[in-house]
Amino acid sequence: MVKAVFPGTFDPPTVGHLDIITRAAAAFDELIVATGVNQSKNRLFEPQERIEMLTELVEPFPNVRIGTFEGLLVDYCRAEGAGVIVKGLRSAADYDYELQMAQLNRRMTGVDTHFLPTAPENAFISSSWVKEIARLGGDVSTFVTPAVHARLLNTL
Ligand code: PNS
Repeated sequence: MVKAVFPGTFDPPTVGHLDIITRAAAAFDELIVATGVNQSKNRLFEPQERIEMLTELVEPFPNVRIGTFEGLLVDYCRAEGAGVIVKGLRSAADYDYELQMAQLNRRMTGVDTHFLPTAPENAFISSSWVKEIARLGGDVSTFVTPAVHARLLNTL
């Protein structure tokens, strides 16, 4: 049985994240979508709000649950008994950044990273840009689910 962790900030989760969750849920026996709760600037949603949005998002997938972690991702994977980290890749820039983390994580504990190429129609979507566009009054309704969109409008 292969248990995988899909980590991220998910501030907020996008349709790009949902695509990776859908495909990883089909590929692995169990998937934990884990949101990091380390303090960092430019957060829009509190950890509890991100957990609520993610819980709604994964509701259709019986083998997916939500987790939170603070500290090293590899320590969380070890505590959960997960041997695989799942990451979506949108571009070569993502790859350059993620490759180093994947190699470090594997060297530290042996947990391996599986990359999924983002669907082309989602390749330009990022939580950071979604937040900025929404803050400046742009329409982000096709970048997030209706439930997340409603929260965005209520939070801004
Ligand atoms: O959605 P994001 O912001 O790209 O997610 C980044 C995240 C949370 C997956 C990454 O920053 C992470 O793994 N943080 C945990 C701290 C850690 O393990 N750092 C060492 C990485 S080699």
